[in-house]
Amino acid sequence: MKTNILVIGGTGKTGRRVVEQLQNKGIEPRIGSRNASPSFDWDDKDTWVNALNGIERMYVTYYPDLAVPGAKEAIQSLTYLAKELGVKKMVLLSGKGETEAEACENIVMNSGIDYTIVRASWFNQNWSESFFLEPILTGEVALPMSNVLIPFVDANDIAEVAATVLLDDSYNGEIIEVTGPELITFKDIVNIISKTSNRSLNFYDITLEQYIDGMKQMQIPNDVVWLIEYLFTHVLTNPKNQLVVNDIERVLGRKAKPFIEYAKETAKTGIWSQVEVQ
Ligand SMILES: NC(=O)c1ccc[n+]([C@@H]2O[C@H](COP(=O)([O-])OP(=O)(O)OC[C@H]3O[C@@H](n4cnc5c(N)ncnc54)[C@H](OP(=O)(O)O)[C@@H]3O)[C@@H](O)[C@H]2O)c1
Repeated sequence: MKTNILVIGGTGKTGRRVVEQLQNKGIEPRIGSRNASPSFDWDDKDTWVNALNGIERMYVTYYPDLAVPGAKEAIQSLTYLAKELGVKKMVLLSGKGETEAEACENIVMNSGIDYTIVRASWFNQNWSESFFLEPILTGEVALPMSNVLIPFVDANDIAEVAATVLLDDSYNGEIIEVTGPELITFKDIVNIISKTSNRSLNFYDITLEQYIDGMKQMQIPNDVVWLIEYLFTHVLTNPKNQLVVNDIERVLGRKAKPFIEYAKETAKTGIWSQVEVQ
C-alpha cells in the first residue's frame, strides 16, 4: 500500500532498515534520496517540495551529520516547509551528546509539528557500512582513545524504534535515547571482530593527532577529517555518552542487541573477509 510516509535517507544505514520495517507492515513509504523519484537533495531546495508533497509523517536523517556546518539551517528550512505543506509528524534521528544536534532537535521540538526525537549513540554498522570498515579490511586498526567506553547501538534496533514511534502517536513529544546494552571499547570491538570473522586483526592505540595526520596523508576530504575529529573530541569523550539507556527495551519490549550478536551476523555475510591486498 502506497502511503503518505517519507523516509529521508531511505537508502542509508538506518533509513533503509526503517523502510524495511514499514514494508513488513504492508506500508510502502516514499524514499528521500538523490536517486529516488521524485528525488530529494539536501543541497537543492528545489527538490524538497515534490518530495514532501502529500506527506503526513516523515523520518529524517541528515547527511552526513547534524554536527556539520549548514545542518541547522537545512533542518530549519525543511521543518518550516514541512509545516507549510501540512506534515503532521516528524521523527528526527539525532546524536547523543552533540550540541549541534541538540540545536536541530530544538528546531523540530519548537515547530508546532508533532515529533519524536530518536537520539542515538554510535552505530555498530560503522564497522561494516561506514568509516571503520576500511581498517578492518586492511587488518590494521589504529585508533585513538582505545579505552573509552561506548554504548554502540545496532542500526536494526534504531530502525525498529524509529518505525514504531513514527506510527504510534503515544510517543509524541518524547526524546527516545537509543544505546546498546553494554559499554564497550574499540579494543574490545577489534577482538570480537577478529574472533567472529576468524581474522587476526592488529590494533594500535595512537594519539588523536596521529589519527588525523594519517587521514590527511590518505587524502581523505577535509570536511570528513573535520567531522571525525569533532566526533572524537566532542562526542566520544562526553560523559553523557558513556551511559547505557534502556529506551529500546521500553519501546520494543525486548533487550537491545549486544555487539557480539551484530558481529556474528555480520561475519556470516562475508563483508569482513574481503581482505584488501596492501
Ligand atoms: N553513524 C553513527 O554512529 C551515528 C550516531 C548517531 C547519530 N548519527 C546520525 O545519523 C545520521 C545519518 O543517518 P544514517 O547513518 O542512517 O544515514 P547514512 O547512511 O549516513 O546516509 C545515507 C543516506 O543519505 C542519502 N544522502 C546522501 N547525501 C545526500 C544528499 N546530499 N541529499 C539527500 N540525501 C542524501 C543517501 O542517499 P543518496 O546517496 O541516494 O542520495 C542515503 O539514503 C546523521 O545525521 C548522524 O548525525 C549517526
